[in-house]
Amino acid sequence: MIDAESIIRELEREIASVSEQEKLLKIKSKYIGKGGIVTNLISRIKEIPPDQRKEYGRKVNLIKEKVEELITKKQEEIRREEERRRLEREWEDITVPVEPLVGHIHPLTRTLDRIIDIFRSMGFRVKEGPEIELEKYNFDMLNIPPDHPARDMQDTFYVNKEGYLLRTHTSPVQIRVMLEEKPPIYMVAPGKVYRRDDDPTHSPMFHQVEGLAVSEDVNFGNMKFVIEEFLKTFFEENVPVRFRVSYFPFTEPSAEVDIGCVICEGKGCRVCKETGWLEVMGCGMVHPAVLENCGIDSQRYQGFAFGMGVERLCMLYYGIDNIKLFYENDLRFLRQF
Ligand code: DAH
Repeated sequence: MIDAESIIRELEREIASVSEQEKLLKIKSKYIGKGGIVTNLISRIKEIPPDQRKEYGRKVNLIKEKVEELITKKQEEIRREEERRRLEREWEDITVPVEPLVGHIHPLTRTLDRIIDIFRSMGFRVKEGPEIELEKYNFDMLNIPPDHPARDMQDTFYVNKEGYLLRTHTSPVQIRVMLEEKPPIYMVAPGKVYRRDDDPTHSPMFHQVEGLAVSEDVNFGNMKFVIEEFLKTFFEENVPVRFRVSYFPFTEPSAEVDIGCVICEGKGCRVCKETGWLEVMGCGMVHPAVLENCGIDSQRYQGFAFGMGVERLCMLYYGIDNIKLFYENDLRFLRQF
């Protein structure tokens, strides 16, 4: 009969010194692979006299099971050992002190927060609208019909869904709020806007803050006061402010607001293009057609609105000359704020 014990003992001896999976696999096939020791025992069953076959089969099966068990156990041992060696190789001393890296708020976010805080302190509430906007809200209801030349003032990114675009300004939030709420309305709307523009002072994505006040008695004088107060608080000094007649389809009359150049203090420099003045926002009295588009009686109510670029204000406040610096996340830049 077969000597099960010596087969198993021999196998144990063979695998004892093995430390690689590959060698173990070779041993495995020597026993239970094609033509292997145990495989051969199994195929010899035909030669065993019928009355001994049952006992023979039982024995061979036990051997086979034992061989498999030993091999599996060894495989697991090798795997654990490899893992242990890997961890040892990759060991790092997590107690070594590192140079402290303290995060802080991005200059743009800080500027946005400051702008919002100033208007909040004057009683304006914060509203937000979507960046993928209805063309109707971004243009039509703001009194900018499809063939109006003012659409060319803002090079638009369209999206592949009819009637939608990436908002070119935060002014559509005015529409959303007026459709939803009844006057009196005092709101500011911060957010991202998109235009096909790209140079040192323009980025395809930038931020604006929109303002809107609608009531029975707001007037141009109120608007002037609010904007002047805002600019003096924002620039932390008594900056000169002037209102220059301008044109926007959604306001009448319209104005652009300039401050005395904060870089050269009005003497004339590269930043103010030698004019001594810097344009910082657009504003005006809400066009009656816009109020009516939103179901607000323009005989009874009037409004003023304004819109400003956050990057621009931030660049002027800190003296930054390239808008791209805001988006590169270069620590040499960010650490200065
Ligand atoms: N939406 C204008 C722009 O992006 C800025 C603006 C001008 C907003 C006048 C206003 C406004 O609310 O009254 O160029």
